[in-house]
Amino acid sequence: MCGIAGYIGKKKASGLLLSSIRNLEYRGYDSIGMATISEGGIRLSKGKGKVSEVDSSLAFSELPGTIGIAHTRWATHGEPSEKNAHPHLSQSGKTAIVHNGIIENYLELKETLRGSAFKSETDSEVVAHLLEKNYSGSLKDALLKTVQQLQGTYAICAIRPDSKEIAVARNGSPLAIGLGNGENFIGSDISAFVEHTKKVVYLDDFQLASVKENSVELFEGNGNPVAPEPKTINWDVEKAQKQGYKHFMLKEIHEQPQVVRDSLSIPIPELEKPRKIFIVACGTAGYAGLTGKYILERYARTQVEVAYASEFRYSDPVIGPEDLLIAISQSGETADTLAALRLAKQKGAKTLGIINVQESTIARESDSVIYTRAGPEIGVASTKAFISQLVVLYRVAEKLSGTRIPLSPIPGKIQEILSQGEKIREVAKKYFKVYNFLYIGRNFNFPIALEGALKLKEISYIHAEGYASGEMKHGPIALVCDEVPTVSIAPKDAVYPKIVSNMQEVRARNGDVIAVATEGDSSISSHATDVLYIPETEETLYPLLSVVPLQLFAYHVADLRDCDVDKPRNLAKSVTVE
Ligand code: AGP
Repeated sequence: MCGIAGYIGKKKASGLLLSSIRNLEYRGYDSIGMATISEGGIRLSKGKGKVSEVDSSLAFSELPGTIGIAHTRWATHGEPSEKNAHPHLSQSGKTAIVHNGIIENYLELKETLRGSAFKSETDSEVVAHLLEKNYSGSLKDALLKTVQQLQGTYAICAIRPDSKEIAVARNGSPLAIGLGNGENFIGSDISAFVEHTKKVVYLDDFQLASVKENSVELFEGNGNPVAPEPKTINWDVEKAQKQGYKHFMLKEIHEQPQVVRDSLSIPIPELEKPRKIFIVACGTAGYAGLTGKYILERYARTQVEVAYASEFRYSDPVIGPEDLLIAISQSGETADTLAALRLAKQKGAKTLGIINVQESTIARESDSVIYTRAGPEIGVASTKAFISQLVVLYRVAEKLSGTRIPLSPIPGKIQEILSQGEKIREVAKKYFKVYNFLYIGRNFNFPIALEGALKLKEISYIHAEGYASGEMKHGPIALVCDEVPTVSIAPKDAVYPKIVSNMQEVRARNGDVIAVATEGDSSISSHATDVLYIPETEETLYPLLSVVPLQLFAYHVADLRDCDVDKPRNLAKSVTVE
């Protein structure tokens, strides 16, 4: 996702816009840009990097004028670079736009604009050229005509030197207008302008607006005017960035239905079935990789070996040109994962990166890369990136096997689990003073037991161990007592009876059991102290659901312990050293 901003009023726009995109950087930060209107036309400055890195070189403060738009980017089409940064100009340079979203039919639209010289690799630039083509005196009318040609999602701000207005439109990506006195603000969300005004008009999907110094005219997608309904928001900037959630981690857990939807449209490259697949990663990404083993072996019938990147890099792996190494990394900068990738390449293996941050080092050094569509993940504890990694692995399995995996109902099922937040918090209240936990799971859910234990320990500082539940009798059951609860992932799948017997063994030794179980399973409660229900799904898809209550449980335990959930002690979001 990206951040877009606009200002129209009597003050110099550049300083206000810089503050807006600084407050929007949590939405994306790989490149930034600004355009303002001056006597000579449109003045534009943009470049790769964050505000703090490039503001001085881009000299935004020198941009004249009291009307302007700005953008902070999270690249989806086209690498982070100056040419791909927004704003984008039309052929004549008389129209400038910023865009957040994905224009799915941009290639077809480019065909209709053959006379235009495109400067970027982005989908967004098409909007600037289309606007110019559709302009005949009214910028708002030109935008109305343009959006009717777009397929996909957009939040757009557009300016022209001959129009004392900012024309805006929205579908699928948020857009808000801040109402000032003799000035008006625009932002992807209110963090762009909440320090200036708390009176806000939110656009609904397919609505447009003509924003002038002293007026805001709102229109439906058919051009009919509609009366704006201003709201007053009592948020500060930080709260606005968290969209009202107490922590970024909770916000990102709640973004997961949309992340899955977005991940379902990620293009998966043609892949040649290898002799063997190796998966290397660290931490949560590693547990996504271990889940990937079960997925790829089940569907693609290809042997998969998963290794901690830190172990792989110092081993002497039997890997060669017939093999594929998949490196999974949210940041794309994890030192051990990068080293493991380089070792595999030295041994001739093909490499595929499943990465969240565009143009990160691992992305650039992989032979091919699939970018997850989780957007910026601010919380140190990885949640939405993990879910997006899983979706990509299912879709790689689809590509290798030619089978269709029914992923489309998953966003709605995750949403159902998220609605149980209060119930999960009530369960967390019973256990947040405990010092040790066991997490157990089998088969597809064994890696989820490991991930659930990691979530708990890294944000609440409670010791938690994940185990294959069949291992309990081989040692861990010695830990079981009334002070060591066990979280058991027990959906209705092929190994359900086996995990129930493990739960009975724990209960027989006075151990509490928190079960993650399938809705409608009424018998499970006789084997568990507490039950967190998840919707029914295909047994191979349970990891996409069973992880969600564990994320929320860890979050609420840590919050109840007053831990620094978004920035846990001793941790960093990206471990760029070994
Ligand atoms: C997960 O919650 C942790 N933040 C950590 O284990 C993380 O997954 C690991 O450091 C790998 O990071 P990456 O995905 O950026 O490579």
